[in-house]
Amino acid sequence: MHTLIAPSILAADFARLGDEVNTVAPYVDLLHVDVMDGHFVPNISLGIPVIHSLRRVTDLKFDCHLMMHNADRYFPEIKAAGADLVSVHLEVYPDPRSTATAARSEGLEFSVAINPPTEFSALEPFLEICDMIVIMSVHPGFGGQSFIEDSLRKMEIARKSIESKGLATDIEVDGGIGAANIRRARDAGANVFVAGSSVFGKEDSVKAVQRLRSEIESSE
Ligand code: DX5
Ligand code: ZN
Repeated sequence: MHTLIAPSILAADFARLGDEVNTVAPYVDLLHVDVMDGHFVPNISLGIPVIHSLRRVTDLKFDCHLMMHNADRYFPEIKAAGADLVSVHLEVYPDPRSTATAARSEGLEFSVAINPPTEFSALEPFLEICDMIVIMSVHPGFGGQSFIEDSLRKMEIARKSIESKGLATDIEVDGGIGAANIRRARDAGANVFVAGSSVFGKEDSVKAVQRLRSEIESSE
């Protein structure tokens, strides 16, 4: 199974965002961009102009996590700004089929995220329409929170389900991931790892990414 590291810019210094991204870019696979609306989640982060500016400084694939209502309304602008993949929340779109169609018609890859209280069984009927699913391992809205252990159980169930259906859906884990638990998340079935404070919150972000990678790529 391929493993991808997706640093979350939420933990970066927004005044030096381009530099922060370029420092880690050669060592990571995706850039995780958290968009919040202050309504679906109790916080506001960044929006389309920031995605647009970042597109000019990097070729990294943008994994845009849309923690917001009416995300589909913005798909054309999000795509035009330079996004590659969008994750919407199942709590906003309990049946995300038409949302997936809307994303794909814009040329976006499509993913659905579930919050800690939402069971994987609610997402399972829609696996076929997802390039990726996101298991939130914190309550969305803020970086730097502690990993919720129960999310490991969900990753296991999700991986089994994806394999039994013969699908290639990626499983991203988002929230509280660091060197101490990334391998457990991999062993539970996740293969895309978001890391905010454990990358941009560290003094040496490159070293931090390399440490995470050594944890998931070692076979022990
Ligand atoms: C939380 C965001 C996460 C966050 C992760 O609402 O969706 O992507 O940036 O940050 P850490 O890795 O610090 O938990
Ligand atoms: Zn996120």
